[in-house]
Amino acid sequence: MSNKSGVILFSGTGSNLENLLKNKSNLDGKLIYKAAFTNNPSAKGLVICQKYSLDAVKSESNSLNSDLSNFLEKYDPDLIILSGYMKILPVDITKKYEGKIINIHPSLLPKYPGLDTHVKAISNNDEFHGATVHYVNEKMDDGPIILQGLFKLHNENDIDKIKNLVHKVEHIIFPIVVKWIAHDIVKLKGDAVYINGNRINSSIKYIIND
Ligand code: GRF
Repeated sequence: MSNKSGVILFSGTGSNLENLLKNKSNLDGKLIYKAAFTNNPSAKGLVICQKYSLDAVKSESNSLNSDLSNFLEKYDPDLIILSGYMKILPVDITKKYEGKIINIHPSLLPKYPGLDTHVKAISNNDEFHGATVHYVNEKMDDGPIILQGLFKLHNENDIDKIKNLVHKVEHIIFPIVVKWIAHDIVKLKGDAVYINGNRINSSIKYIIND
C-alpha cells in the first residue's frame, strides 16, 4: 500500500501539533504530513509549522468552511487530525471524510464534551480525568473512541496542574493513534473501531501512574 497523507488542523498554541511533528519519524514514512490549516491567523502553532517546514493555510472566519473544503480538496488527505481545532466541522465535511478524521479532547468522553472539562471533572469529584482520541462524526466531541489516557485526580483542584497533566497524557496518546492508523492497525468500520481486525467494544486505556 502506498504512503498515507495527513493534514493537521489547529487553532491555538499547537503543543499537540508540535508533538506530532516531533514524533513523525515513528511513522516510518507510512504517513506523511502534507500541510496544516488554522482558523486563527495569530495562532502560535503557525510558528511551529514554520519550524518544521510544514505548509500552513490560514483562514478568516467569513470564508472558513469554504477555505477548509478547498484545502481538503487540494490535499485529499487519508487522515485529517483535529489537534486543538476549536471550530465545529460542517456536516458535508464530516460525511465526505467519514472514517478519516480524528480529534483529541481533554476529557474522558463521553464525559464532558465541549469546554471547561477540567472544572467539570473537579466539581464532580471524579476519581480519574484525562484525554480521548476519537473518530469524528457530525456531533461535537462524539464519535467512536479509539484510545483514552487517564490519571487519578487525587482531589487536585489546581487547574493549571491538571491542564499540564492532561497535555502530558495527550502527548502520549495522540502519536500512538496516528501511528496505529499509519500502520493500518486501527480502522473504523461503520461506527465500530477495529484494532488488528478485532472489534473493540470499549476504548483502549492508557493509564498514567503517579
Ligand atoms: C488540547 O487540550 C486538546 O485536547 C483540545 O485543545 C487543546 C489543544 O492544545 N482539543 P494544544 O494547542 O495542542 O496545546
